[in-house]
Amino acid sequence: MLSKTENSYILVSAATSDIGFAIVRRIASTNNVVLHGRDPEKLTSLMARIETGHKITLWCYDLKNVEGIQESLKKLLVENDITISGFVHCAATLRILPLKNFRLEYSREIFDVNFFSAAEIVKTLLLKVNKQELNSVVMISALFSKFGSKGNSMYAASKGAIDSFVKSMAVELAPGVRVNSVLPGGLRTAMTAHLFDSEDYLKAFREKYLLGEGECDDVAAMVSFLLSEDAKWITGQHLTVDGGASCH
Ligand SMILES: NC(=O)c1ccc[n+]([C@@H]2O[C@H](COP(=O)([O-])OP(=O)(O)OC[C@H]3O[C@@H](n4cnc5c(N)ncnc54)[C@H](OP(=O)(O)O)[C@@H]3O)[C@@H](O)[C@H]2O)c1
Repeated sequence: MLSKTENSYILVSAATSDIGFAIVRRIASTNNVVLHGRDPEKLTSLMARIETGHKITLWCYDLKNVEGIQESLKKLLVENDITISGFVHCAATLRILPLKNFRLEYSREIFDVNFFSAAEIVKTLLLKVNKQELNSVVMISALFSKFGSKGNSMYAASKGAIDSFVKSMAVELAPGVRVNSVLPGGLRTAMTAHLFDSEDYLKAFREKYLLGEGECDDVAAMVSFLLSEDAKWITGQHLTVDGGASCH
């Protein structure tokens, strides 16, 4: 799909997330993939669940440590003699709290994992070590970047940062690299399962989501499209995948 050479890969951050894994399942049938995660056991067991004739490499790193990303990622590329042609940023952390209860350390962690880590990864992939192979970046944003919601201000702001980053990066990196974001609506995953346990949430959800509940694979399909040559004239865009929730 995207790979220019047999040693070029697509890197998916937080491949261990529900949405990340759905993305990996879609793209691994036609691409080599670097699975990123912070837990080595989770990563190894994930690798065993992927059926592919293509190559898989693991990158284990805690993205809270933004300062060390460049060194660790460069090491991965050099030691494995690989390059990255596509990058999907899926990692995120969420803390639902009213702003008055927020501590600066929570805000920093949210921005480090959700936004600054991705900026550091993109920056590293533009260095000589990646041999100008990068050609597509897809950042997982969220519907919350566009709509207000109680207790979500810092998470929403980090996703808004992603969407702004996408616009400027698209301008700065064209025509070589396309940069887009995908804004999923509410999906039942490890991050949100507790919400779906509430009858009130489900009632409001059913009224809002015109097409009912979605699946992680609905987001993966959009990501896979954006990575592909079929999207070769699309850059700097925020693509919403939300079952029509944002229509009203
Ligand atoms: N579910 C939704 O309704 C929804 C809606 C809009 C957008 N999204 C976005 O979709 C993406 C995937 O979320 P998900 O719903 O699939 O939830 P999830 O399974 O909870 O995914 C979050 C992922 O981020 C990883 N992560 C958190 N802190 C990290 C750190 N310090 N270093 C490295 N990785 C870290 C987690 O790693 P571990 O596996 O080690 O815990 C996990 O894999 C996120 O960007 C989220 O904001 C989700």
